[in-house]
Amino acid sequence: MTITIKMLTPEYLDDVMAIAEALPAWFDADARKRAMPVDIRYQDGFVADIGGEIVGFISFYISEGRVNIGWLGVRPAYHRQGIGAELVKAAGSYCQLKGIQELSVMTLGESVDYEPYETTRAFYHKMGFRVYLRAQTDNPGCPEEIRLKKIIET
Ligand SMILES: CC(C)(COP(=O)(O)OP(=O)(O)OC[C@H]1O[C@@H](n2cnc3c(N)ncnc32)[C@H](O)[C@@H]1OP(=O)(O)O)[C@@H](O)C(=O)NCCC(=O)NCCS
Repeated sequence: MTITIKMLTPEYLDDVMAIAEALPAWFDADARKRAMPVDIRYQDGFVADIGGEIVGFISFYISEGRVNIGWLGVRPAYHRQGIGAELVKAAGSYCQLKGIQELSVMTLGESVDYEPYETTRAFYHKMGFRVYLRAQTDNPGCPEEIRLKKIIET
């Protein structure tokens, strides 16, 4: 299985949104209908291609001296095959290219009992991310958010 990492461009918007539709436990209707179609068009990122099929994506933006992951997803049938890891690695290469030493992401905190995000946190921890900020929010969909970061050698 050869994974080809390509730059995220607007031509991949439909592929990315099809993957998001297949991951409703992570991407709710607001994310899929309102936020992602805009962010995916304007953020930088990469897609993972296997045999001509787009099976994963990562988008990110630069803010507060970090490259922040905006959206990340892999088609469920392709989970646990190293595609997410390749996408994070590509984001790390982007950090190196830009001379930025921190790759970060915001996600749901452990205090919220919601199984899908346990796998997300397990993934980020395995990728070398560590929590640097925890916050309670008044967003019912995300009452505790955590921010994680990974140091990238530049
Ligand atoms: C998170 C996600 C992108 C990971 O993609 P993936 O291609 O399945 O991940 P990888 O195969 O590269 O996994 C790398 C390592 O992360 C860890 N990991 C990944 N998925 C895991 C799971 N479900 N449970 C526990 N650990 C997991 C493992 O250590 C894994 O290595 P291993 O398979 O050799 O044990 C994918 O699960 C996904 O699309 N999740 C839904 C969307 C999401 O969570 N987006 C991020 C929101 S902030």
